[in-house]
Formats: sequence, structure tokens, C-alpha cells
Amino acid sequence: MKIIFLGAPGAGKGTQAEIISDRLSIPQISTGNILREALKSGTENGLKAKTFIEAGQLVPDEIVIGILQDRIAQDDCAGGFILDGFPRTIAQAEALDSMGIAIDRVIDIEVADEAIERRLSGRRVCETCGSSYHLDHKKPAVEGVCDKCGGTLIQRKDDKPETICERLKVYHEQTEPLKAYYKEKGKLCEVDGSRAIEAITAEALAFLEG
Ligand code: AP5
Repeated sequence: MKIIFLGAPGAGKGTQAEIISDRLSIPQISTGNILREALKSGTENGLKAKTFIEAGQLVPDEIVIGILQDRIAQDDCAGGFILDGFPRTIAQAEALDSMGIAIDRVIDIEVADEAIERRLSGRRVCETCGSSYHLDHKKPAVEGVCDKCGGTLIQRKDDKPETICERLKVYHEQTEPLKAYYKEKGKLCEVDGSRAIEAITAEALAFLEG
């Protein structure tokens, strides 16, 4: 099964992708996490991506497509994968098509812009494994500590109000057209992302298993 999660920044793509990755035993591939990891390690791609990420802009297609191509060539992707944050432009979707990657299902998580800022300002992420938490909706067992790996929970730099605004603008201009792209192919399922995490997971799984 090859699955894409679409949605605005903070819509819950990472949260749902992580749960469904566990349920279906296929890897979650977050281009955002890969880029942040590259940035932390000071690789060439990480350094190139830094200014774009911090300004809330998309990293250029050629960099992200190369990163994605390398990741899905790894052995653990042979039985399928979940793309969380890729594609984000029509050019990236077309790159997947020309790699011969047949996507089975696309789940679009819909959340109104006004709710996004509340979600992102309360988000905390593990600086070691990238797992995502929320101060109100998804608390770790021990405050400030990742349940999965024991890493420290931090706030992302791009979760500041002015950057959130720019990320939303970029989403509407460059990523939202992907909904029509996949709808036309009969692969899109739109889910109401304003509900509880468990309700969204149940609907997503019903669509994937249907
Ligand atoms: P990326 O890391 O992918 O960020 P994003 O798409 O902006 O999405 P987020 O991670 O912010 O949100 P999410 O939808 O995963 O929500 P989450 O589950 O965490 O990308 C960062 C940057 O990298 C980009 O801006 C760009 O520069 C670059 N980049 C990455 N991929 C790229 C690409 N393909 N091309 C070009 N550039 C790329 O949830 C958010 C919060 O809400 C959490 O605290 C969570 O616990 C909480 N929450 C989740 N669901 C619910 C719910 N149902 N109810 C209440 N709270 C909830």
C-alpha cells in the first residue's frame, strides 16, 4: 500500500501517518523530518534547506525529489509506505508518476486556517526521533520527554505565528491544487480533521481498507 497524507501545516498529517504506519507496518516518510535531520547534521542538503524552512517556504523541488527518491529506494519501503508532506507541488506529484510509483490512496485532512495556529503553537516535537505531541491534545506520559525514545521535546522554529501565516499562504497557493490532481485520478478521500485524533484515524483506516 502506497499512501499520501495531504493537508495544511498542522492539519495532523504526521500524527495520523505515525499511527497508521504502526497499524499497517509500513514506514512513515516525512520529508520535513528528513530535512530537519539533514539540517541538524549539517549536510549539504540541510544547509540548502535551512533558509527556506525557517522562512516558511518550500524547499526547491529538485532537492526534495532527490531526497524522496533515495528514501523510497531503501529496503523497508518494498512493501509500501506513507508519504507525510510529499508531494507538495504538482511538479513533485509528476515526479512520483515518472518514477513509476503508483499511489493507491490519498487522504486529505481538512482543518480551517483559524484552528491551525492553535494547533501549531501547542505542538512539541521530539528533537531525537521527530515524534509529535500537543500541550493539550496529545501529552507525553512525562512532561517534556518523548514516550517513544526518551528524547527532549522542543518547539519547532517554524511554529512561530508569522511563519505559520506564510506556511498557510504557501500551502493554499502551491499544495492545495494537488487535491484536484488526485481527485481526478479517483484516489482522494477528504476527512474532517477538526475532530478527535481517534475519529480521524478510524475514518482513514476505513478508507484504506475499503
Ligand atoms: P513539515 O514538517 O512537513 O511541516 P508541515 O507540512 O508544515 O506540517 P506539520 O508537520 O507542521 O503538521 P502536520 O500536518 O504533520 O501536523 P501534526 O500531526 O504535527 O515541513 C516543514 C518544512 O519543510 C516545510 O515548511 C518546507 O519548508 C519543508 N518541506 C517539507 N516537505 C517538503 C516538500 N515536499 N517540498 C518542499 N519543502 C518541503 O499536528 C500538529 C499539532 O496538532 C500536533 O501538536 C498534534 O499533536 C496536534 N493534533 C494533530 N491532530 C489533532 C487533532 N485531531 N486534534 C487536536 N490536535 C491535533
